[in-house]
Amino acid sequence: MLDLGSPSPRRWLLLAMIAALSAGVLVAGCGGDDGDSAAATTEAPTETTPDPAPEPDPEPEPPAEPDPPPTPKPDPGLPEDTAGFRDGLKLNSAPIPPNAGAPHGETKNVYVNQTRETIAPGGTQAFPYPDGSIVVKTGSRGGDDAAIVAIMRKVAGADPEHGDWEFIEFSRSATSDPYTVLAQDAVCWTCHAGATDSDWVFTRLEG
Ligand code: HEC
Repeated sequence: MLDLGSPSPRRWLLLAMIAALSAGVLVAGCGGDDGDSAAATTEAPTETTPDPAPEPDPEPEPPAEPDPPPTPKPDPGLPEDTAGFRDGLKLNSAPIPPNAGAPHGETKNVYVNQTRETIAPGGTQAFPYPDGSIVVKTGSRGGDDAAIVAIMRKVAGADPEHGDWEFIEFSRSATSDPYTVLAQDAVCWTCHAGATDSDWVFTRLEG
């Protein structure tokens, strides 16, 4: 046990050391405050640094011009106005199977450059077809689904006796070959005269 009751130089020295140690503890205790304030002073500059002036918005880019839709090209050898005919309205809902009484190849599809609304207003097909109508029929042969292409083109005043239709048929012997004319007009009328109730066009809009 430390005897602090008897005064002696040792005791004073001991008291002085205790006092010094206590002060050190206090100083150390205040060190925390010092640390905080130091942190505050190091943070301060970043807080007060003014934000850099915002970059002015760059001029908005004018919207890119959309590429014009590619102009469809007719299949080589076919008339210009048949370009993209497969995108037209298909009159038949299922491919027309080979038909002993009909020419124009084996399996057939018939397209027209009209819409359901223009040729069947209210849901019922109306005749005659509008001027400018182009009916295109593809017929398959030997693996080429369009070896034969038969066309009926409605041109106002062109041939009133035959519904103002121009008839022309093309064929090709290979998909890599251009089409050439096979037959036209008079040879076509004999059969198509049997379809005058539907404006010389056999295939009616289905579906
Ligand atoms: C032997 C009779 C016959 C002859 C000749 C004929 N057609 Fe057809 N054509 C038909 C029949 C039948 C259809 C109906 C679809 C089918 O069964 O093939 C048809 C369909 C068409 C179609 C599709 C629209 C439709 O009427 O259904 C076109 C286009 C066409 N013929 C064009 C021609 C052209 C052009 C010629 C002359 C080069 C011609 N036809 C000669 C019988 C004939």
